[in-house]
Amino acid sequence: MAVVEQDINDRYAIYLGDCCEVMPKLKTGSVHLSVYSPPFGGLYHYSSSERDLSNCRDYEEFFTHYEFVVEELFRLTMPGRVTCVHCMDVPSGNTGNDHLRDFPGDIIRLHERMGFHYIARYHVWKEPLGVRNRTMVKNLAHKQIVDDSSRCSVASADYLLVFRKHGENSIPIAHPNGLLNYAGERPIPPELFTYRGWKGNQIENRYSHWIWRQYASAFWDDVRIGRVLPFKQAKDDEDEKHVHPLQLDVIERCVVLWSNPDEIVLTPFMGVGSEVYGALINGRRGVGIELKPSYYRQAQRNLQYALDGYTEGLEQMALIDDDKDWLPEDVHSSQPAGGAQPRQHETETPFAGLVQGTPSPVLRDGRGAVGAGK
Ligand SMILES: C[S@@+](CC[C@H](N)C(=O)[O-])C[C@H]1O[C@@H](n2cnc3c(N)ncnc32)[C@H](O)[C@@H]1O
Repeated sequence: MAVVEQDINDRYAIYLGDCCEVMPKLKTGSVHLSVYSPPFGGLYHYSSSERDLSNCRDYEEFFTHYEFVVEELFRLTMPGRVTCVHCMDVPSGNTGNDHLRDFPGDIIRLHERMGFHYIARYHVWKEPLGVRNRTMVKNLAHKQIVDDSSRCSVASADYLLVFRKHGENSIPIAHPNGLLNYAGERPIPPELFTYRGWKGNQIENRYSHWIWRQYASAFWDDVRIGRVLPFKQAKDDEDEKHVHPLQLDVIERCVVLWSNPDEIVLTPFMGVGSEVYGALINGRRGVGIELKPSYYRQAQRNLQYALDGYTEGLEQMALIDDDKDWLPEDVHSSQPAGGAQPRQHETETPFAGLVQGTPSPVLRDGRGAVGAGK
């Protein structure tokens, strides 16, 4: 299969294909940062392809498949640099008497086994009534407290897990004038704006210090949950559900905290392009891989907006409404989907620019060049 289609320019390279086949073609130590949401251990089914990690037969098979991805991410990551995994606890179902699976814990143990150090866990806060109304999770209903509170549960946070590859970071991620932009919903105290981009002693930089306090908190209760890329048009006719894009505030924080301008930010599970988009609008370069053609096409459209600088309009198009269909009635009863594979055509030069030793339009020049960490 390798690459079915690709779209490459000097800011990004995106591939329609299976990340387990595309990543082995990328150069060791060439990625400065990776940010992504893996398919959530069987919670959603994105496509009928057996290459789709969401179609694994069970939780154990998912981790066997996912281990290959993490192993590749370890090889690709520059020494001393970071990979960020967005995930959540996985509910056993929505019967009203369910339990949770410690998906984040299993992800942490896998990364440690692959050689990463676990360095942080951020909690992206979700407002309970909003979660209940959006998902119709039974054990979050107020009625449950009234009837039998032994069955009530929590509006789980999303988690952002951060892992660092061992070794010396040869290119410091410096912010000599502090942090310049805040991605979140809290109003910045107006008196701090005079310090933005402060050139003097950074101890005096109250603007950057304020942003740092929001970002360094273990609880990110200021993420704009609805600030995501357009995704609904990416739904295929036969899909029961649509993809759930990662919030742009989360991505922007990762990109700014853990990469330099022009560096390479990778997502092996690109969906509609959010991580690549977050990289581009922050002056980084993005590499994304996506298996499902309709998501890949939506990513192409979304990234074109980023290249054109029409980001505000794009983000306004995407406000989530009435998004109730994310949780199946009983996760464990969902069988892996069979059915036809998407039609695939090999391209003649599938990894233009990413094969070892060839010049790359995306990864060329400067300190962000691929191979810098080799
Ligand atoms: C949680 S979604 C990612 C959503 C993405 N963060 C966004 O904001 O749009 C996981 C994605 O992984 C894709 N996927 C699953 N298995 C894959 C594979 N083997 N290679 C590449 N993509 C895969 C699915 O099609 C889905 O789009």
